[in-house]
Amino acid sequence: MPIVDASELPGRRAYRLLVDCVVPRPIAWVTTVDAEGAVNLAPFSFFQAVGAEPPSVIVSIGKHRDGAFKDTGVNLRASGECVVNVVTDELAEAMNVTAGEYPFGVDEMARAGLTPAPSRHVAPPRVAQSPVALECRLTQEVPIGDTENAYFVAVLEVVAFHVDDALYDDGRIDPRRLRPLGRLGGSAYSHPGEVFELERPPSERPAAAG
Ligand SMILES: Cc1cc2nc3c(=O)[nH]c(=O)nc-3n(C[C@H](O)[C@H](O)[C@H](O)COP(=O)(O)O)c2cc1C
Repeated sequence: MPIVDASELPGRRAYRLLVDCVVPRPIAWVTTVDAEGAVNLAPFSFFQAVGAEPPSVIVSIGKHRDGAFKDTGVNLRASGECVVNVVTDELAEAMNVTAGEYPFGVDEMARAGLTPAPSRHVAPPRVAQSPVALECRLTQEVPIGDTENAYFVAVLEVVAFHVDDALYDDGRIDPRRLRPLGRLGGSAYSHPGEVFELERPPSERPAAAG
């Protein structure tokens, strides 16, 4: 089994190997608005849920080839608000259109033929076609690296959940009806697979006092 030292990998090789290893990744389809109110939409698979009270997610945002932070990062830092839309299998093609490199101010939601729907607490709209969307506020920024390939992790507090009636049962989302797209390495994706259940082992830790 080859062991590869990350420090010996030139250029983007470490990035490529990393995204081959950490799979499948969920995709945050992030809506922001700029100072003029123009809508921006782009996908981010460096995305994860990281806390419960308050409910929190992270999205890691890199730079364009010209060294400028991606429009999502610029808008998020300026406004402190975004919506994280969930990308389902059916939305793969539209999501891919919004990943194109467009000049600042281009409305990728319109480019992809998607419909904006109003949010309750934040200015950016959600994607009406996405069955699950999280209204979020930026609470922390964590820098990752200091080179031209630097990222920053945006820690986002979820302030509202939008869930399609067709998926929502008694405060939960039916995992068999939500069909989330998975991001693999390179340009590869995975369709949602078979869903099965596994109960965790019972706790062997002492019960909390009181
Ligand atoms: C499935 C997918 C996942 C992506 N994940 C990320 C990511 O986690 N971080 C990132 O900086 N760029 C990511 N990208 C690239 C951005 O979506 C792309 O650079 C986009 O043009 C950024 O748009 P913006 O400048 O409007 O923010 C991803 C692209 C795709 C197709």
